[in-house]
Amino acid sequence: MSRNVEALFAAAREAYGNAYAPYSRFPVGAAVLTPEGEIFAGCNVENAAYPQTTCAEAGAIAAFAAAGRRRIAEVCVVGGGAGLCTPCGGCRQRIREFAGPDAPIHVAGPEGVRASFTLAELLPESFGPENLG
Ligand code: THU
Repeated sequence: MSRNVEALFAAAREAYGNAYAPYSRFPVGAAVLTPEGEIFAGCNVENAAYPQTTCAEAGAIAAFAAAGRRRIAEVCVVGGGAGLCTPCGGCRQRIREFAGPDAPIHVAGPEGVRASFTLAELLPESFGPENLG
């Protein structure tokens, strides 16, 4: 793991530990890295009114945007279970708003990174800000 990915994973792993997921019992943590090397993290926050749940990626992106940042270079998502916790469709689009097609998205379990994709692999032929003209 590069130092960037190591730090990104560590931040996502810490947020994973703070996830509020009493209903699904599926904690998720996410962290985004800016081109300047800053990291912002978030976790899923569930709600007794189920649809009000927010994904970990949404939380990380909210913290990133609130700090005035506008470019995402790399993302790491940490989820439990045996499979890959790839970002949901809505979160792929949220990442797309701020990241380019080659941005790496690392998918991890609590033990470390399991697989890495580019954003374009996860969201091909995507619609983004430039499509609005
Ligand atoms: N979840 C995320 O936080 N990010 C994803 O990309 C996939 C799903 C959360 C939402 C919900 O709290 C739990 O995982 C189960 O779907």
